[in-house]
Amino acid sequence: MALSALLNVMVKAASKAGRNLARDFGEVENLQVSRKGPADFVSAADRRAEDIIRTELEHARPGYSFLMEESGATAGEDPQHRWIVDPLDGTTNFLHGIPDFCISIALESQGKIRAGLIYNPVRDELFTAERGGGAFMNNRRIRVANRMHLADCVIGTGIPHLGRGDHGLFLKELAKSMPALAGVRRSGAAALDLAYVAAGRFDGFWERDLKPWDMAAGILLIREAGGFVSDMEGRDDMLNSGHIVAGNESIHRQLQVLLKV
Ligand code: IPD
Ligand code: CA
Ligand code: CA
Ligand code: CA
Repeated sequence: MALSALLNVMVKAASKAGRNLARDFGEVENLQVSRKGPADFVSAADRRAEDIIRTELEHARPGYSFLMEESGATAGEDPQHRWIVDPLDGTTNFLHGIPDFCISIALESQGKIRAGLIYNPVRDELFTAERGGGAFMNNRRIRVANRMHLADCVIGTGIPHLGRGDHGLFLKELAKSMPALAGVRRSGAAALDLAYVAAGRFDGFWERDLKPWDMAAGILLIREAGGFVSDMEGRDDMLNSGHIVAGNESIHRQLQVLLKV
């Protein structure tokens, strides 16, 4: 399937930044690692990838606004269009030599996510979606899994790292969900987890306290793959609340009930 002009712009930015990340991967001693919080790492790789993506997107669509993890919000002349970017989702994995990380780019247009891209440069897996146009991995159509029983399901989640989130609440959710599910996975890259739900690899996902750049592209991918996404209470408020539950229609509903504490 031929990519639209918009997705082409996003793919070009992600490919360029991805080549850079692949080059930096394994070079931790040269990456000027620092902490933004107790276990909230950032490195030259995050910053370089972000700069590349910003330059590419700015060149292709001058005036659009930005929300990026490392440089924050920048208002452009066009406030109706905003790029929401995580230049390296899974920094901790990246710095530990674990090849589960990705780039996430979404375009929000008049408050609605119009396009999303998630790219794992190590596996060369590219997940793309445009509003109303379906979801794809490496240009092949993807759909959410169709399992209906939690006992058959592998569900992804995120464990709040040191200094972040409520570990007690997470353990309560885990205690409730583990006996009901076939398996629980924690990959360390929320955007990639959401792409895996869209691709039917994970049957569902939940996590609390995420940021818009972790979720924006993944939300569109899952919806365009036929899935359902909300916060813990079923509201379409993920980008504000930071909480997210996803799956096919049935698993999305069952997970919300299961996770009620
Ligand atoms: C983190 C990852 C992780 C999630 C954290 C995020 P980063 O993003 O997505 O899976 O549990 O909450 O902050 O910092 O590696 O881009
Ligand atoms: Ca980070
Ligand atoms: Ca992230
Ligand atoms: Ca990041």
